[in-house]
Amino acid sequence: MPKQNSRPMCNDGRRPTTLRVSRLARSETSPAGSAPPRFGAATRISPWARSTSAAPGVCGSLALAATLSELVLSGRVREHQEGARFGGMAKLAHLRVDRVLVFWRMNAGSDPAGFKAFEAEGWTRKAATYDRLTGRTTARLVEPLLDAAGVQSGSRLLDVACGPGRCAGAGAARGAVSLGVDAAEGMVAVARARYPEIEFRQADAERLPFADASFDAVVAGFVVNHLPRPEGALAEFVRVLRPGGRAAVTVWDRPERMRLLGVLAEAVERTEGVRDPGLPSGGPDAFRFADEAAFAALLSGAGLDAVQVRSIGFEERVADTGELWDGMLAGSVRTAAVIERQSKEVRRRIRAELEDVVAPYRSDDGITLPVSAKLASGRRP
Ligand SMILES: C[S@@+](CC[C@H](N)C(=O)[O-])C[C@H]1O[C@@H](n2cnc3c(N)ncnc32)[C@H](O)[C@@H]1O
Repeated sequence: MPKQNSRPMCNDGRRPTTLRVSRLARSETSPAGSAPPRFGAATRISPWARSTSAAPGVCGSLALAATLSELVLSGRVREHQEGARFGGMAKLAHLRVDRVLVFWRMNAGSDPAGFKAFEAEGWTRKAATYDRLTGRTTARLVEPLLDAAGVQSGSRLLDVACGPGRCAGAGAARGAVSLGVDAAEGMVAVARARYPEIEFRQADAERLPFADASFDAVVAGFVVNHLPRPEGALAEFVRVLRPGGRAAVTVWDRPERMRLLGVLAEAVERTEGVRDPGLPSGGPDAFRFADEAAFAALLSGAGLDAVQVRSIGFEERVADTGELWDGMLAGSVRTAAVIERQSKEVRRRIRAELEDVVAPYRSDDGITLPVSAKLASGRRP
């Protein structure tokens, strides 16, 4: 089996440093379709899940990024001002985080079905605790998503990768007829319990079990950065939209701007003795669509027009590092696995490094970290 290239280009064209690569075991690619997804009966197995190649432009992994992309705290939403308050630190952080990206790049490969099964199982385990931190943050993007998708009273709304169902619930509060789908059985169960009046189904975002033109609006919060084939998912969003319907999608920004993710990446990078956690290959580059041109191309490439991408930033606060650490482990899958698969001693050291990394963000109020997301939307012609 071919070994994967340990030193691909990043999306921005730079070669990351290989500082830590030699310490890590290289991942091998897996045969296509070797591990079928363990989704429920309602879900058809995606043809993309059998693809033999990783998504184009995959810069690795970002197991961390994607899962880090699940963090959130509480704070005031404002239009993003890059580096406005933490500019100098962000620049420094960028250099450090780049080395971490090399680490997670080791997990890129071609087992998308295995990766999807890992995600579905992991999100089921984390469903009950997702809102401690991650769901708290993604909640801040719910109304902007619904606005960008033009959701109003009477809209037929599909919430893809609904998690605990917040977008579907907020859509229903606007008078929309909401339906939610998620790959994780546990997330579907939480959503059903929380919004018993709304229909939720277990389904793969890359293979939606709906007829063409069934919806007026499709929203997908923080999932395209979890998909082996985001292009396949966008094609599905467009297929199930009626002509004139709108789709809106969010992803997290890069860790130098999305500091909630960046601080953990840095803590891991600083820690000696971190082992390759052996995550399934086939995971996507979580920061691929932090690049606005790439994000716009994802939507326009699927056939949407009037495509717009914007940044949304806010500052989030946690009481202390314990809340950040616990919330992260309770509300993520890949990130949590990276940490949970280390020895007790290495975990202790990562946690100690995190104390140090967040020090510049500490005040009498706790720890305030910049969060930044990208929101893309478009209309089916
Ligand atoms: C970070 S959570 C986002 C949840 C929710 N949209 C939000 O904004 O809080 C990612 C969600 O994507 C779901 N997911 C991951 N892969 C999926 C797939 N292939 N199809 C459908 N859902 C998927 C997970 O189960 C999880 O609920």
